[in-house]
Amino acid sequence: NIAFLNGEYLPLEQARISPLDRGFLFGEGVYEVIPAIQGRAIALVPHIHRLLQGMRALEIKPAWAMDDWRNLCEALIEKNTDASISSNLGIYLHVSRGADKRRFHAYPEGLQPTIFGFAFELQESCLHSPDIKKTLSVITAEDLRWQRCHIKSTSLLGNVMHFQQGQAAGSDEAILHNANGNVTEASAANVFLVKDGTVITPPLEQQLLPGITRMMLLDILRRHTEIPVEERPVQLQELRSADEVWLTSSTKGVTPVTRIDGEPVASGEAGELWQRLNPVFHQHKF
Ligand code: PDD
Repeated sequence: NIAFLNGEYLPLEQARISPLDRGFLFGEGVYEVIPAIQGRAIALVPHIHRLLQGMRALEIKPAWAMDDWRNLCEALIEKNTDASISSNLGIYLHVSRGADKRRFHAYPEGLQPTIFGFAFELQESCLHSPDIKKTLSVITAEDLRWQRCHIKSTSLLGNVMHFQQGQAAGSDEAILHNANGNVTEASAANVFLVKDGTVITPPLEQQLLPGITRMMLLDILRRHTEIPVEERPVQLQELRSADEVWLTSSTKGVTPVTRIDGEPVASGEAGELWQRLNPVFHQHKF
């Protein structure tokens, strides 16, 4: 498994960073997970754009252009595609502010940002095959993260605690809602529901990540189907009475949720629209 760290390709086990890296001390960085299916990165440009946007928000400025990021992704795919590792990879990219010995909360000037990348084996999802029948059970929880969830920050403690809450309850994920009962997203995925033939998802704002899979799904539905689509606030109650609920992410693709807080979603099986669209999802490689 070959990783990239600060200009060098090396075996992942040999990659070392300073404990003074502000990514380690403050969680001060941004990251991406890009699916690479049979050697091809999916939606590479929007992923890199989101990374650049996150770096702008944090005022981290590595001297890297779009092409440098593209080359890094392609090199990680190439170096990690062999018989021993799956041909479907998740490409993880990470930029943190760098190491500084003062441990001062404000942004220090002149640090060399840490750039790290590695590849991991992607779990099977509808990205790989229209025959994958995985479904998810979720709990619901009040969203106790911060007010800047639109930044794909490496400070993932809030997300990790919510995900763990789901796991501890014997479920796969946690769907989060704010104090008004509006659904934001899941702890590591975006949320969609289907009601009376309309596909509905919460609108983009600071309480959720602008998911690339979300964007691709909306785009495909609008351009290649007649199915009505709405981006609007979703009440938790609507999820419980939905015909279908889906989670989307770069690692899950589009996966049906069949149980919420122990209760079945409609019939408790992957819904009709998902079944109908699954070959389309596969074709477009979500
Ligand atoms: N997570 N919301 C959150 C909080 C996420 O962490 C993710 C993805 C998404 C979906 O975004 P996208 O479709 O761009 O992957 C939404 C990645 C996969 C992760 O942290 O592993």
